[in-house]
Amino acid sequence: MESQIQCAVSLRSFNTFGVEARAAFFAAVRSVDQLRDVLMDARVRDLPRLVLGGGSNVLFTKDFDGLVVKIDIPGYARAGEDDGRHLVHVGAGEAWHATVDRLLGDGLPGVENLALIPGSVGAAPIQNIGAYGIELAERLHSVQVFEPASGSVSSLDVEACRFGYRDSIFKQRPADGRIVVGVTLALPTHWVPVVGYADVEHELKRRDVSHPSARDVFDAVVAIRSRKLPDPQQVGNAGSFFKNPVVSRARRQELVDRFPSIVNYDIGGGRDKLAAGWLIEACGLKGAVRGRAGVYPRQALVLVNLGGATGAEILALAREVQDAVRARFGVELEPEPTVL
Ligand code: EPU
Repeated sequence: MESQIQCAVSLRSFNTFGVEARAAFFAAVRSVDQLRDVLMDARVRDLPRLVLGGGSNVLFTKDFDGLVVKIDIPGYARAGEDDGRHLVHVGAGEAWHATVDRLLGDGLPGVENLALIPGSVGAAPIQNIGAYGIELAERLHSVQVFEPASGSVSSLDVEACRFGYRDSIFKQRPADGRIVVGVTLALPTHWVPVVGYADVEHELKRRDVSHPSARDVFDAVVAIRSRKLPDPQQVGNAGSFFKNPVVSRARRQELVDRFPSIVNYDIGGGRDKLAAGWLIEACGLKGAVRGRAGVYPRQALVLVNLGGATGAEILALAREVQDAVRARFGVELEPEPTVL
């Protein structure tokens, strides 16, 4: 099995920012057995480890002096029904968007609002992907994880995953070393469209659709995302680079008094979310270019590699954005991707 592990591998094509970094050791695995073999290999057993899916939520700022494992585990199978929901098991290595499309083709709507999100199915629960009114956690039955300590696979239900906004137990306790090898989606048997998000509503109106099918919602979301977000195949990026910051009601009021047009949403529990894209734009940084890194001109929350940027250049721009937003609004922006 040793042949599966390669040395000194460029990670450029394995991260959607398209930045250069080298992995001391690299292996792509297509099954749990292969994963187990790779992790037990004497050359890498005690080294730091990084698990990659589609590489759409990571910024490499230096070489990785350990083992990078790319999860390519395939799989797609109906798994019965539970509590009025269709269960579908999907391998962690499947591409997320292609899976959403396939589900619709199979008459299984429910995740169409999450169309066109880059990355793999296995990466989806790590940051609890969300868009246009839906988060993955709402459409999930369980996550299958490989536990390196025991060498076996177990299943975590939604509660055990401790999902939050762009957050989960896999982010909170990465030291556990659990590796997502599959997810079981739970899709509503009685589907109703989720169209409350203003952008989706407007797009459907523009298309003259009053009773949208799941495919209509999918098409609308694809159109909105294609307009606002750069295609990683063309311009390196990792989607939103920052989370939308959450503040207390009192803090929001203070900010609204000083900046009446600040975009904010009540998220319950006496807390509010601020639109980070608005904050960045208000600092005059939308479209900013620093060397080969930039702030995307159509969505200020997205940082882009304009061609040949290093991770360090992108990180320097991220820090400039954070500093500007802190200075003007006293608000801290937290990066969404993992910075390594
Ligand atoms: N806005 C600006 N200027 C900008 C960008 C946004 O003023 O440059 C304002 C918009 O006008 C709008 C508000 O900010 O009023 C929200 O913008 P948008 O609908 O584009 O969504 P977002 O909050 O910027 C979040 C997610 C996206 C997700 C969309 C739609 C985060 C960090 N990002 O972005 O997720 O697609 O909502 O649900 O929560 C991702 O995580 O990679 C991602 C793309």
